[in-house]
Amino acid sequence: MTIIEPFKIKAVEPLTFTTREQRERLLEQAHHNVFLLRAEDVLIDLLTDSGTTAMSARQWAGIMDGDEAYAGSRSYYKFEKVLKNLTGLEHVIPTHQGRAAEKILFSLVGGPGKSIPNNTHFDTTRANIEYSGAEAVDLLNAVGKQPEVRADFKGNMDVDALVAFIEDRGVENIPLVMLTVTNNSGGGQPVSMQNIKDVRAVCDRFGLPLFLDACRFAENAMFIKMREPGYANKSVREIAQEMFSYADGATMSAKKDGMSNTGGFLAMNDDDLAGRARTVLIVTEGFPTYGGLARRDLEALAIGLEEVLDENYLTYRLRTIEYFGDRLLEAGVPILEPTGGHAVYLDAKRFAPHIPPEHFPGQAITCALYLEGGIRGVEIGSLMFGSTDASGVFQAPPMELVRLAMPRRVYTQSHVDYCVENIVQVFNNRDKLTGYRIVEEAPYLRHFTAKLSRITARR
Ligand code: F0G
Repeated sequence: MTIIEPFKIKAVEPLTFTTREQRERLLEQAHHNVFLLRAEDVLIDLLTDSGTTAMSARQWAGIMDGDEAYAGSRSYYKFEKVLKNLTGLEHVIPTHQGRAAEKILFSLVGGPGKSIPNNTHFDTTRANIEYSGAEAVDLLNAVGKQPEVRADFKGNMDVDALVAFIEDRGVENIPLVMLTVTNNSGGGQPVSMQNIKDVRAVCDRFGLPLFLDACRFAENAMFIKMREPGYANKSVREIAQEMFSYADGATMSAKKDGMSNTGGFLAMNDDDLAGRARTVLIVTEGFPTYGGLARRDLEALAIGLEEVLDENYLTYRLRTIEYFGDRLLEAGVPILEPTGGHAVYLDAKRFAPHIPPEHFPGQAITCALYLEGGIRGVEIGSLMFGSTDASGVFQAPPMELVRLAMPRRVYTQSHVDYCVENIVQVFNNRDKLTGYRIVEEAPYLRHFTAKLSRITARR
């Protein structure tokens, strides 16, 4: 039986169509970096699932009903209640988005000499840790780094590596352990409850706090329900509550599973750390009952954080991504398998094996998808994570991916079909893809603003 969109459409937004000639010019003007395109020049925007959600009629009604009081807003207390129920964490500190929570947390616990392990740090998390002077280390299990191998929980942390890491760096140099659910940079792959428990046990052994990067906690919980023995008959809410029960704190960009267009939070049990976090919050974000957000946004989040636990929605959500991936696989297009929760990831190493990592194969595909069909994805590979070491040698990350992230409740199945047709077209002409080189870059998060040029001569 076809799994249908579990909503009907009440408000629509027109798409703008461009010609290939126009797109050639627009991409040139954007220095071959799709972040520098104007969104109105994009037909299907799969750049991110962050803040791009279509809110529900109930959320829009909540926006109108928001209480804009500076201090003690009713909307804040509603937001706090929903999150305390979900996470069981004592202190809920709103922030304008996820990285603001990360910035506050790592300005307090990071700093030179400190190391923070994660299954895979998202790029802003890594940047905030490194900006504080600390070291960000990824300890993903081996299978998570093999895009062609299918496994249920490819987001799991390598628990033995975690133990070895703590012993090597010294427990006093590790302020906390993090787990990112789902593992965005590793393909939106879920972390099993067993792995969360195992990491918790290691944290207990060393007396370390565990923090979840909970951006996509509901998608992770749905995967646990579908795949992990013993969870099929539990509700996603119960599963999410259990996930959080093993954590001492969390950061979240609520622009994802908060089903809203902005917002985030930092939550924790430690009273002293929370007090210090609120002080930084007041200096940098705003008063603790709004944290840089309009109170109406807290209202929309309080509603969105409940809506995301609807299992009809989550079934449709995960099925959309799986359907997208299955159709690509049928056409022979290499993707990261199995599909994760929020995006399809093209495996650029197998898609364009003739382009070496230092010439950004993922970027070549990203540009080609825009030119072919006005589709915007994002490179997650050497452009995002590559670096040059002290001796000038290029260091590539383990995977070269192109992420096609699905905004929540925005596109229909025919939009997905259109994307598949265009990707297959680019794939069938893959020999014509050529690499890129960086002309200009920033010292942190270079992929957002880098200017590139196309390497015309084939190697
Ligand atoms: N952690 C994860 C796992 C994320 O995916 C993101 C954002 C953040 C933290 C930071 O949150 O953007 O609200 O400051 N991911 C977006 C993406 C940008 O496209 O995947 P933020």
